[in-house]
Amino acid sequence: VKRLREIADRHGLKIVEDAALAAGAADYGQPVGAFADATIFSFAPYKPLGSVGAGGMVTTNDDEIALRLRLLSGYGHIPERTAATPGHQFHLDEGYNAPLDPLQAALLTVKLPYLREWTERRRAVVRGYEERLRGCGVRLPVFRPESAPTFRQYTILVEDQQAAYTELLQKGVEVVLHYTPAIYKQPVYANRKLPGSDRLPVTERVTSSLVCLPVTPDLSEEQAAYAAEVVRGLHVSGTSQARPGSAGRAGVPGT
Ligand SMILES: Cc1ncc(COP(=O)(O)O)c(C=O)c1O
Repeated sequence: VKRLREIADRHGLKIVEDAALAAGAADYGQPVGAFADATIFSFAPYKPLGSVGAGGMVTTNDDEIALRLRLLSGYGHIPERTAATPGHQFHLDEGYNAPLDPLQAALLTVKLPYLREWTERRRAVVRGYEERLRGCGVRLPVFRPESAPTFRQYTILVEDQQAAYTELLQKGVEVVLHYTPAIYKQPVYANRKLPGSDRLPVTERVTSSLVCLPVTPDLSEEQAAYAAEVVRGLHVSGTSQARPGSAGRAGVPGT
């Protein structure tokens, strides 16, 4: 986003950053959102900062955007204006009824002080995976040195996605195949023949070989080691049917 910032500034553009999965992450020493005009965070369950229901937040340093967001989320109503004319209720915009549910807000207020510590634990889980999976034929994500990511899962590329998925599930590992099939192959889009969707070999390769290993702050070192051993076992013992070395010549998104 830092590089996008430079381009946006040259052309007078605004940046809205999707940080739904990135609460706790940083880049170039700045917390996520620092380079955007507005940044959205999701508080859906299983996000790095998750509630037990639906919810989200937008951060901005821009007073104008902040006011507009308040208006949009609260029926376009602005309580401050009523001071001059008691009892009157002014609506400055056609807004929505979209506040953060107070119950979720209360829960998130309790969780927020732990975000830094829990992000560190997520990173430690990933370091454990990296150490155990390096050199076994699995393709691991690579991160820019300036970035300090957070993780909702650890996405790797394996030789045989179906074999790895089934084996991990059978052995009690909470593996998921996020992003498979690719979005343009989802039934909702499949018939639309989206432009260029027949020419995405990297996406094809990645979506057909990725598996997402669990990453949570409370995942113990033993649990992560066990998951990594199952993956290693598949590759080292050659249970996989895929041709050796076919796993992922492309990188995998980190989060
Ligand atoms: C990258 C990304 N953006 C946006 C969203 C949507 O968030 P929400 O479910 O809170 O609307 C998600 C959640 O699945 C996400 O992972």
